[in-house]
Amino acid sequence: MILFSLLKTLHVLALMFGSAASLGNIYLMLAKGPHDLAAPGFTNMLRKLYRLTALGAIGLFWITGVALFLWEYEFQSPGTAFTLKILLVILLSAIVVFVNLMAPSWARRGGPPDYLSAVHWIAALLLIANVVLAGFAFG
Ligand code: HEM
Repeated sequence: MILFSLLKTLHVLALMFGSAASLGNIYLMLAKGPHDLAAPGFTNMLRKLYRLTALGAIGLFWITGVALFLWEYEFQSPGTAFTLKILLVILLSAIVVFVNLMAPSWARRGGPPDYLSAVHWIAALLLIANVVLAGFAFG
C-alpha cells in the first residue's frame, strides 16, 4: 500500500515537473524579443533546463504509470479514455525525445527552428489533454 501511494505521488510529481517545463517553454517563447539578444546564454540555459526536466518527467510518467497500470488494472485497459491517454502520451514522449535529441544540433546552428514554437504548443495541449483524460479514465 505504501508502495502504491509512493507510485501515485511520483506520478503526480511528474505532472508537476512536466507542467513547469511545458509552461516554461511557452513563456520563454512568448517573452522572445530584442532583449533576448543580450542574453543568448541565459535563454539557452533555460531551454536546456526545461527540455531535460520534460525528459525526466516523461520518463517518470512511464515508470510509475506502467507500474500503476499493472498494480491496479493488471494490464487491462479501464476504458477508451485510458487508451486515448496512452496514445497521446506516446505522441508527447516522441516530441520530448525529438527535442532533446535535436537540441545540440540546433544550438550549433544558432538556435531552434521556427516550427519549434508550434511543437511546444502541441506538447502543452497534449499534457492538458492527458490530465483531462486521466480524470475521465479514473473518475
Ligand atoms: C503525460 C503523461 C501523463 C499524465 C499527464 C498523466 C496524468 C495522470 C493523472 C492526473 C492521474 C490521476 C492521479 C490520481 O488519481 O491521483 C493519473 C493516473 C494514472 N496514470 Fe497517468 N499520466 C500520464 C502518463 C501515464 C502513463 C504513461 C501511464 C501508463 C502506461 C499512466 C497510467 C496511469 C494509471 C494506471 C493511473 C491510475 C492510478 C490509480 O488507479 O489511482 N499514466 N495519470
